[in-house]
Amino acid sequence: MNKVEQQHFDACASVYETEIGEEYPQWLKWHLIEKYAKHGDRVVDIGGANGRHALDAALKVACETICVDISEGMLKQLKQRPDYLLAEVESRPSPVVASALELPIQDESVDLAWSYATLLLMPDQQTAISEMVRIVKPGGIVILDIGNVWNLGWLYWRRFYLKRGFSGIFPMSRRQIGKLVHALGCQTLEDIPTGILSQLLLLPYIDKVTRLRDRIHKKSAYPDLDGRCSKLLPIFANRYYLVLRKKGG
Ligand SMILES: C[S@@+](CC[C@H](N)C(=O)[O-])C[C@H]1O[C@@H](n2cnc3c(N)ncnc32)[C@H](O)[C@@H]1O
Repeated sequence: MNKVEQQHFDACASVYETEIGEEYPQWLKWHLIEKYAKHGDRVVDIGGANGRHALDAALKVACETICVDISEGMLKQLKQRPDYLLAEVESRPSPVVASALELPIQDESVDLAWSYATLLLMPDQQTAISEMVRIVKPGGIVILDIGNVWNLGWLYWRRFYLKRGFSGIFPMSRRQIGKLVHALGCQTLEDIPTGILSQLLLLPYIDKVTRLRDRIHKKSAYPDLDGRCSKLLPIFANRYYLVLRKKGG
């Protein structure tokens, strides 16, 4: 496991957001879980942090939920959340300290696995994606959040993470991810680009002194202006949310 990453996320665990958020990119993450998770399903959140999505999957959709993260600090936060403490023990998500690169979960034993805002931190995300496909049952669903290479936002985020001792940030080209999905025997059910305009918010002062954020991420617009523009020019999107179905079942 990567010590730098563990320490970084342990250190920010107590202030990490627990609410899902109303802006389209945040809404979309929960929307996809809600769309594909069924009552009683066994589901896994990889890089699940403080249970931001895993707790709702367990309590709102009534899934048997596993929250995997390398940061013990994040999982400790999950176990201190009021909704976790108030829930029946058997309804709570199970926190598991583990790396996405080596999941301690049996082959073909879960119905749905998702990973948000985590894969792009790994130089070896192909292994992490293969692990997700391995644990999902034939016919099961994998939801991926992939950073797309042709977006200037990564210049900002690469600098941000390099400064904190990470090895960088690792967006993937459409070709790379397409090849991997094919090699893993998965079918793409959805491919939703976002973030073509939100890279502008990373320019100095723009987010502070303009109202651009309100325009591109208008509340309750699903998709918002950013999502609609990303669909028109997906090659320059910041991320793709991919929903894959594992063959068989
Ligand atoms: C940016 S947060 C994203 C949290 C949450 N999924 C979300 O969408 O808000 C990334 C999380 O991934 C975890 N993480 C980073 N590298 C990981 C790895 N190799 N295996 C498992 N978890 C990892 C971090 O500890 C952190 O909690």
